[in-house]
Amino acid sequence: MKNFTKKLSVLTLFHFTFLYTLTIASSDGSPKPYTPHDNIALDCGSTANKTDLSGRSWIADNTIYLDHSNKVSVISTSPAQGNPIPYATARLSRSQFTYSFKVTPGPKFIRLHFYPTSYHEFDRSSSFFDVHVGGYTLLRNFSAALAADDHKLEVFYLEFCMYVDEGKLNILFSPNPNVPDSYAFVNGIQIMSMPGDLYYTSDDDTGFNFVNQVNPYRILKNQALQTLYRVNVGGSSISPEGDTGMYRSWFEDGEYLANGGPSVLPVNLSINPSFSVIPNYSAPTPVYKTARTMGTDRNVNENYRLTWEFRVDVGFTYYVRLHFCEFQGEISEPGDRVFQIYIDNIVAEHQADVIAWAGGRGVPVYRDYAVMIGRAGKEMERNLSVAVHPAPALRTKYSDAILNGVEIFKLSNEGNLAGSNPQGIHISPPIKSLPPRRPKYNIRPTFLIVVGIVSTFVAVSALYISIFRPKSRVEGCSSWYELSNKDYSSVDRSGKVYTSDGKHSKDTKECAIL
Ligand SMILES: *[C@@H]1O[C@H](CO)[C@@H](O)[C@H](O)[C@H]1NC(C)=O
Ligand SMILES: *[C@@H]1O[C@H](CO)[C@@H](O)[C@H](O)[C@H]1NC(C)=O
Ligand SMILES: *[C@@H]1O[C@H](CO)[C@@H](O)[C@H](O)[C@H]1NC(C)=O
Ligand SMILES: *[C@@H]1O[C@H](CO)[C@@H](O)[C@H](O)[C@H]1NC(C)=O
Ligand SMILES: *[C@@H]1O[C@H](CO)[C@@H](O)[C@H](O)[C@H]1NC(C)=O
Repeated sequence: MKNFTKKLSVLTLFHFTFLYTLTIASSDGSPKPYTPHDNIALDCGSTANKTDLSGRSWIADNTIYLDHSNKVSVISTSPAQGNPIPYATARLSRSQFTYSFKVTPGPKFIRLHFYPTSYHEFDRSSSFFDVHVGGYTLLRNFSAALAADDHKLEVFYLEFCMYVDEGKLNILFSPNPNVPDSYAFVNGIQIMSMPGDLYYTSDDDTGFNFVNQVNPYRILKNQALQTLYRVNVGGSSISPEGDTGMYRSWFEDGEYLANGGPSVLPVNLSINPSFSVIPNYSAPTPVYKTARTMGTDRNVNENYRLTWEFRVDVGFTYYVRLHFCEFQGEISEPGDRVFQIYIDNIVAEHQADVIAWAGGRGVPVYRDYAVMIGRAGKEMERNLSVAVHPAPALRTKYSDAILNGVEIFKLSNEGNLAGSNPQGIHISPPIKSLPPRRPKYNIRPTFLIVVGIVSTFVAVSALYISIFRPKSRVEGCSSWYELSNKDYSSVDRSGKVYTSDGKHSKDTKECAIL
């Protein structure tokens, strides 16, 4: 990619692993399906314009209008010098401050980046603050330190979506006056346009299924969204550079898998997704080349639901988008793989048939659902579950089910998105002390000995499983399957490296050669 050497010299500061994964990500120079009109990245507290490891430009703090009329907001270099941009500097204040951005009208992503640490006289644990944008409360009495500790992360960001009518976006940070020595801070802010029909419901669209409700649901312009989960089911994480142009991060699904039956991870690298039903910016293509299915054993599959669980705040409606793409050779006709979808244990779809929805194999589709997660008892949080289960045998050729991707958003309730501390956060990759890269090299030769054909599906032999308990995750090649169970999630958790899209394609290339 252009400027590669120039970038490398900037990078020498950083940890090798971090450098390695990100440079691979930046080597994907293919044109993106979407180019955001507004694309602002503000490096709060920075006095210079900077370029991050992936080649994104972050502008200096003084480039954006800042109202800190009380003059007490300060900028600070964080103690951990050498943190990647934007986590090396911050703006902090014991009284409120507002950033004001000039943008075009339309729906925007807003991403707030945090590195909670003690900045000189600002103690890490005493920061509690609110964030308001327009008429919306995004955060209330928010502690970035509690959120980071809860997720065992050093840095993270939160992503919101909202519709901007006028050409201006004001983000107000106000410290909680009831907490002694409280202050507000932020390390980075990104504002980015998104396609008008990406998450907001178009005027000509009648809406989608609100589970357990009669009337369809629509995402209206007066609603703000908070992204809670964005998951590449059965595949690797995808870094912001690997997204379709909107710099969204996609994470692995292992840690959200609930206990239950087995699942397999089919991959088809030769599939070239054809976007004839949904726009090509909906999700990056790797999402549609990997999936998690239940496996080939009808008797087993009929007796469990393949389930993912996502922790959410109670008292909100959630917007759930499920991504699908059939890519296995055996599945080509409507009726081949028909399954049920449960959201929060309620049937959201009696007969999901991806081929019927898409019109063929290799055609991505998504389905949207809304679900109300009500209060029950004193708990402030509970799990929102997404589950799939085969349709009755007479309705489907294979008793199986598939899922390729999940996105879950919290919807504003009378202008409010704030929940309890610590809040559901959309994690960004850990930066320090990255876990070791997945030990793929142990595994590769074993592909050669695995040839087990079970009915029309190809499955991995029991021998393979017993020797190579899924301690190391293998990208299955074409129809290679990897059986997996709950053990898998701990692997994912520890292996939750900042795996980039580039890395993914590198891995998959290795696979394809085998
Ligand atoms: C995405 O789709 C649009 C409209 O169909 C098309 O013009 C564009 O070339 C596509 N972009 C990519 C990268 O495939
Ligand atoms: C940073 O970039 C912005 C926009 O490109 C420009 O207006 C500003 O002068 C630059 N600031 C510095 C300190 O170079
Ligand atoms: C919520 O889901 C997670 C992930 O599966 C699980 O570890 C946790 O026990 C669940 N919590 C409840 C209250 O069911
Ligand atoms: C991968 O997709 C191609 C194109 O649809 C198909 O011909 C092939 O059978 C698929 N491979 C497997 C192993 O499912
Ligand atoms: C703010 O949150 C903290 C931690 O959850 C809590 O102890 C405190 O009571 C809250 N304060 C207010 C004013 O809501």
